[in-house]
Amino acid sequence: MMAPVVRALRDTECAGLIMVARLEWTKFEARSLAAIREEYERVKDERYTRLHLDHVPVIDEDDLRVDVAPLMREAIRLGYGSIMVDGSRLPLAENIAATREVVELARQAGVAVEAELGAVFGHGEGPLPPYEELFASGRGFTDPGEAARFVRETGTDWLSVAVGSLHGAISRTRKDEKKAEARLDISRLKAIHAAAGVPLVLHGGTGIRKVYIMDAIPSGIAKINVATAIRQPYERALAGGAEKAADAVYAATVRVIREDLEVAGSAKVINPAGGSA
Ligand code: 13P
Repeated sequence: MMAPVVRALRDTECAGLIMVARLEWTKFEARSLAAIREEYERVKDERYTRLHLDHVPVIDEDDLRVDVAPLMREAIRLGYGSIMVDGSRLPLAENIAATREVVELARQAGVAVEAELGAVFGHGEGPLPPYEELFASGRGFTDPGEAARFVRETGTDWLSVAVGSLHGAISRTRKDEKKAEARLDISRLKAIHAAAGVPLVLHGGTGIRKVYIMDAIPSGIAKINVATAIRQPYERALAGGAEKAADAVYAATVRVIREDLEVAGSAKVINPAGGSA
């Protein structure tokens, strides 16, 4: 349900990437890269929107190896403006090698690459330890020194980092749960940004305490991924029909833009000339 998201971006003059991740066509109803591209073509408003390929994991949620290159080539051929390779379940050297391969094929096409270093938990099937325990342990958090090496050796354009956020659960049994109120390690984020020197991406954007979001943006976060905050109201409203679901998606997206992230009007900052895409 893309149209109400585009409408919300336009009405709030907010720049947004419409995105699909591999698991959304392997486990959910997104169907395919081509189907998403077609829907985007119908509803896009490129004063405010671009199309992005989110997580294509090298090792997926079920611990299976994925052949990422054909998917990346397909996305590039279909006109996706940016693509994400997620090698975060691999050891550092292998993540670097897998990411570099994707950067090389994207470069030739002028497409931006996002990669991930560190582990943003939540997409797996099993239960997680209590949030505060996870945060205190710093398990999976991105290391600034590794981030410097990773960016230097891969040439990635954007880097997704782990500093305390969690992905919303996607398993059938847990996907309706309220997310834990995440915190962010802002001093680590600043150190990563200084070391990496590229725009950073925050996944698991739903449910992070507002004060941390406000600190994260001037500390290097240039893109915030949000799914659960829009998906859950959509699923709750769906019983009342497609129109009700579209209204719920629109309202939830406007709420995220205006209240949770305070990024209304950002299209003017990103594209000061405005108007043209
Ligand atoms: P949330 O579901 O927590 O908003 O996270 C979305 C995300 O990071 C998609 O890549």
